[in-house]
Amino acid sequence: MATRPRRPLLLSALSVLGLAVVAATGSGVQADREPGILTPPPPRTPRINGPSVYGVRPGRPFLYRIPAIGDRPMRFRAEGLPAGLALDEATGIVRGTITDLTPRSHQLTLIASNARGRASRPFRIVVGDTLALTPPMGWNDWYTFYEQPSDELMRKAADIMISSGMADHGYQYVNIDDAWMGKPGSNDPALAGPARDERGMINANGRFPDMKALTDYIHALGLKAGLYTSPGPLTCAGFHGSHGYEAQDAARFVEWGFDFLKYDWCSYEKVAPKGSSPDPERLQKPYRQMGTLLKEQPRDIVLNLCQYGMGDVWTWGAEVGGHSWRTTGDLGLEKGERLPGFYSIGFRNARHSAFAGPGRWNDPDYILIGYVGNAHDISEPPKPTTLTPNEQYSYMSMWVLMAAPLFYSGDITRLDPFTLNVLNNAEVIAVNQDALGLQARFVRKTDDEFVLVKPLEDGSLAVGLFNLSEETRTISVRMAELGVNRRRVRDLWRWKDIGVFEDDYSASVGRHGVMLVRMDPIP
Ligand code: GAL
Repeated sequence: MATRPRRPLLLSALSVLGLAVVAATGSGVQADREPGILTPPPPRTPRINGPSVYGVRPGRPFLYRIPAIGDRPMRFRAEGLPAGLALDEATGIVRGTITDLTPRSHQLTLIASNARGRASRPFRIVVGDTLALTPPMGWNDWYTFYEQPSDELMRKAADIMISSGMADHGYQYVNIDDAWMGKPGSNDPALAGPARDERGMINANGRFPDMKALTDYIHALGLKAGLYTSPGPLTCAGFHGSHGYEAQDAARFVEWGFDFLKYDWCSYEKVAPKGSSPDPERLQKPYRQMGTLLKEQPRDIVLNLCQYGMGDVWTWGAEVGGHSWRTTGDLGLEKGERLPGFYSIGFRNARHSAFAGPGRWNDPDYILIGYVGNAHDISEPPKPTTLTPNEQYSYMSMWVLMAAPLFYSGDITRLDPFTLNVLNNAEVIAVNQDALGLQARFVRKTDDEFVLVKPLEDGSLAVGLFNLSEETRTISVRMAELGVNRRRVRDLWRWKDIGVFEDDYSASVGRHGVMLVRMDPIP
């Protein structure tokens, strides 16, 4: 049956919304057309955020800080906590090692209460072989600090992850990128010295006096620590890589207490130049080697493959032991033409939706908003993003819908309210962290607009209506295109119920903006 635009049943939502958007966007100069902070202040009653499912290998240390917003002090409880784990009631940090080594699920109820109320949520711990059951979230220093990471910086980043509320929204990993090791030929005394000790174990450079003390600091906050290296002799920035010492490096990362490794192809190209052996074996070999080594360790380490999408990595990344893989080149180097670079990176990443799932994520690179350094000239100080507010909402919405790992890589030491509003929206992040783990697929894509849909575990759909054009535009989606009929629609950036829609849903969306909604089934 042909559908024609229908008005919503409960509210005249489009006109209400249209008015709101027009009022917020105006019709004059571009600045007037851009929204500011869309999301209302968070509730003061407790709300538990983060995933509802979490994977751990049998016998490995467990660490999870329950992300929750609402007034502090807050008290946490967990019903059904498996033997071996303990919860700190004041911080919500769960630690220990589950004594039952049987691969199985443990069903818990997490409870948070404060002076204003109480919230509870189911949480499943899956003891098995799969880690990263939902996309990893955190911060990585690369796009702000480039070759200057240090112990001091990473501690500060961990502190800010807590104080900014990022951790309360599920951000968890504090990740050091390139340049934590020595650099051959460097005149900088902090970067000089032997690459490895007498056991062949890699040394950190002078900016990291004690890696174990650093990860202890991060873990004490309930957060996790990540590191970077290359299977080649040198990293991309010319620091010492792992080549020939892979087993020692895996053991070293465990000894130091790291929880995440980004393994960056880089100078491995020289070890295995094109044609030296058939692809994809040539491309897979170093990753299979590190993936296998990490699985054997007495500690869970999430493995991120960084090789820019070569050899269709999404088809084999999980099989070699990866939990996520970059699908493209560096976002910070991507030259946008008519549109900013995150769109083209995102569009390429979006094509591989069929390959994503729990423990296996397509990674379109980091979220670059707020103050960001210049990847083309790393000596330049970080500057405020040139992305408009609408573009930032679109960027975050695309990453969330694509079930992308959510790593902020702008300057975490200079977070402004707008940037935090984009990063820390509990209802938006819930879409990314949904336990079903599906990556959104395109419903439609033209030069002027696109629509992405991500089915969620509870039967609802997350739908993004994106405007690529230079003018405010009405974007529609037919329920039939989504395979559903009547749905209740909620605006996830504004936390507003919009109404019940039958045949289709339309929204007026500003230049390069997005309407991100959840469509719930009506019983
Ligand atoms: C690139 C990688 C970036 C960053 C950089 C470090 O190859 O894609 O994300 O890690 O190396 O040198």
